[in-house]
Amino acid sequence: MTLLSDELKQSAAYKALELVQDGMLLGLGSGSTARYFTEGVGRLVEEGMKVRGVPTSRETAELAAELGIPIVTEIAGQIDLTVDGADEVDPALNLIKGRGGALVREKLVAAASRRFVVVVDESKLVKQLGVGVLPVEVLPFLWRSTAERLAALAQSLVVRGGEETPYISDNGNLILDVTMEGGIKNPADFGVELKKLTGVVEHGLFIGMADTVIVAGPEGPKAIGRLSGGAVARSNPPPKA
Ligand code: A5P
Repeated sequence: MTLLSDELKQSAAYKALELVQDGMLLGLGSGSTARYFTEGVGRLVEEGMKVRGVPTSRETAELAAELGIPIVTEIAGQIDLTVDGADEVDPALNLIKGRGGALVREKLVAAASRRFVVVVDESKLVKQLGVGVLPVEVLPFLWRSTAERLAALAQSLVVRGGEETPYISDNGNLILDVTMEGGIKNPADFGVELKKLTGVVEHGLFIGMADTVIVAGPEGPKAIGRLSGGAVARSNPPPKA
């Protein structure tokens, strides 16, 4: 990863920090971009802001705990704001997520959120989803059978980590990385097909879930979606790195 890419991720995450308000229940995403957001929330907590966080992975839970952010893992009602990264973003703000392995909890947290804001650097923007792999989390029990049925819908798939030493998700499951040659023509329909397969726990297509995507490029962060209307909730300057 280049330094520039890191700076872009940081600027997108810091823009999202402007939306954080006292008293909020926050969804804390996973991955290198969301990490900048969580670190920023940690600084706000240190300054006295009262917020709580729902982590989307064990890694984020550990980070939040280190930063002194009160953690919540069961909720009644909605999360006020979730900020997370993405692997691919299409023009309709549909996403591929999960290349970091946290897609199930990320989707659960996003689905429970009043507002789901995605933070990316501009390299994540694609014309059509499926430029890279689509992660699909499956139960380990009879996973080969699930993989065979899944393979009938895709060009190819691999077990993340390899069959000898498979990657195990925070939920104790396997991840199959699916390749769709030529991209995913209709992501909404494909997501429905994937969910019909017994053994599939969840897939990394996030359709119609993001209401704002903050994209950082050399010109600075730009919001696409709801935030672009100027509805920024708080206008504090971004915290110092
Ligand atoms: C984690 O499972 C993913 O969904 C991440 O949100 C995604 O991979 C983006 O990660 P980076 O911000 O590290 O690129």
